[in-house]
Amino acid sequence: MGAANSGTTASVVVVGSINTDLVTYVRRAPGPGETVIGDRFQSGFGGKGANQAVMARQLGADVSFIGALGDDFYAALTLENFERLGINADGVMRVPGSSGVAPIWVEADGTNRIIVVPGANDLVTAEHATRAIAAIPHIDVCVGQFEIPQAVTAATFSAARARGAVTILNPAPAARINLDLLAVTDWLIPNEVEFGILADRAIGAAFAVSNEAMAEFSRRIGVRLIVTLGSAGAACVGPDAVVTRLPARAVTAVDTTGAGDAFVGAFAVGLARGWSEIDSVRLGIACATESVLRPGTQSSFPSAREAAAILADIEGPGARA
Ligand code: RIB
Repeated sequence: MGAANSGTTASVVVVGSINTDLVTYVRRAPGPGETVIGDRFQSGFGGKGANQAVMARQLGADVSFIGALGDDFYAALTLENFERLGINADGVMRVPGSSGVAPIWVEADGTNRIIVVPGANDLVTAEHATRAIAAIPHIDVCVGQFEIPQAVTAATFSAARARGAVTILNPAPAARINLDLLAVTDWLIPNEVEFGILADRAIGAAFAVSNEAMAEFSRRIGVRLIVTLGSAGAACVGPDAVVTRLPARAVTAVDTTGAGDAFVGAFAVGLARGWSEIDSVRLGIACATESVLRPGTQSSFPSAREAAAILADIEGPGARA
């Protein structure tokens, strides 16, 4: 096994995607048939699953990853990155063909547009994933997203839950949720757009992520709900349907790519450490806010040192248990 899993440290398993991000920074993205000159290009490690795993690891959790890579150069680099960070990659299966890639455009105000080409991510199997879960000694929290087949995430969540884990689903990129996946999900963390699609609400002037809409949706599906709100922080629906909105520190964003993943990975660590959900949300917001200050995806996340300071800040005097 790659990294040690002690059984005493917070243990997070991520089942999901691995991509290489090919990021172009451009003042304004081109329209149809238009060519524009970009400012800068950078490639880096990405994929919603891998990003969440890396954020959790920077916060000191034991992290195991379940997913798939192809037989290309990107696969070798990704495995080296996991090894360097101490992420257990025993659950990464290898398949012939290309690994996942994501061409990304980031405009001057930090907003991004992403195309994901799944490659190997589409080929991970439920059999592989459940075998991988069985081989991990201890699991506190299992996290999934929508960049691998939902049936694989459902099988993994089911196996992880049978081992006593709490499951967190980040329904991104936006799509409808299969009922069998919903049935094994404890926490759902969409952003505003994803929430609008899941809750069947039109996005536009008339739609805001109202407390009523969130509370009603959470009650209807029987799953705990957090909606991330970008620069406005996040909203958490309590078990009593009371919605708590937690603000984010005001910053000037350089690149928002992966901020949602930083939130999810950090929230998972909070829960795995036994923190209250509100402090776990605070941890998520703090890490996501830090990530928008730098360009890139995983490269923009707080370092292990910065992450330790964020943890200490939230755990310090005045922290809610
Ligand atoms: O959430 C950001 C991520 O979405 C990028 O890293 C990209 O690879 C896509 O998965």
